[in-house]
Amino acid sequence: MEKPVIQVKNLYKIYRIGENKVRALNGVDFTIQKGEFCCIVGTSGSGKSTLLNMMAGLEPPTKGEIIIGGEHIERKNESKLVLFRQAHVGFIFQSYNLMPNMTAVENVAMPLTFQGVPKDIRERKAIKMLKTVGLGKFLDHKPGQMSGGQQQRVGIARALVVDPEIVFADEPTGNLDSNTTLEVLNLMRKIVHEKKQTMIMVTHDNYLASFGDKVIHIRDGKIIKIDEHPGGRIENTEEDTTDIYPGGTLAVPGEEIRPDENT
Ligand SMILES: Nc1ncnc2c1ncn2[C@@H]1O[C@H](COP(=O)(O)OP(=O)(O)OP(=O)(O)O)[C@@H](O)[C@H]1O
Ligand SMILES: [Mg+2]
Repeated sequence: MEKPVIQVKNLYKIYRIGENKVRALNGVDFTIQKGEFCCIVGTSGSGKSTLLNMMAGLEPPTKGEIIIGGEHIERKNESKLVLFRQAHVGFIFQSYNLMPNMTAVENVAMPLTFQGVPKDIRERKAIKMLKTVGLGKFLDHKPGQMSGGQQQRVGIARALVVDPEIVFADEPTGNLDSNTTLEVLNLMRKIVHEKKQTMIMVTHDNYLASFGDKVIHIRDGKIIKIDEHPGGRIENTEEDTTDIYPGGTLAVPGEEIRPDENT
């Protein structure tokens, strides 16, 4: 059995506001294996974003351990955390967080700037990644000139252009319709699986979570259940993908987002 890439042990996050204490995470333990697509699912306020932010080293825990690739995240200071994130982590947000005045290429190339990659290589890598997510015809478009699904594909390209070992995604399809949601989900899964990257996705939607190899159910800051179905749901239901999503047709093979040709 492979060593886990992420270990979370006895994790607590308690927010104090005046006299009040909110136990956002109330003793959480789990492991994630390399290459796994793990979904964290729970209702609003259950602690999903808190957990994700803590794993990414964006916020310190109150108590407990987060070990990623053998390194204790909770022991690192801010400058070490910045380096850790630059070297190992990609982020996909619900609201895309693209720079409105930059083109798709410039947005995707940005994380490479922080890594000190020269301009011509940055551009080449950004263009290649945008073609991978099927946006070869939108290279010079600014976010306002693209649909929500296209903007999120730019967000995915930006997260993956640095070839991160771990991809964190917080409600990445939260602003998309059900068709586009499944296209984007399929695309993320496909790229991440091909590159043997580990992805952790937060969602409030049990159906979307069921596409994960591992599904961690969280309620009131505690894990209530962990489901494992390696390979996730998409591959297991290849024959009947046309009618598994109430309220939409989807994931019809012909409609899948494909990389642009000549990449
Ligand atoms: N900075 C903060 N200060 C105080 N309380 C916080 C803070 N951040 C989160 N909380 C509280 O911690 C709990 C968990 O919040 P969290 O954002 O992790 O939930 P979530 O599962 O991501 O919800 P949603 O689906 O609405 O995004 C909530 O009760 C929230 O009010
Ligand atoms: Mg949240």
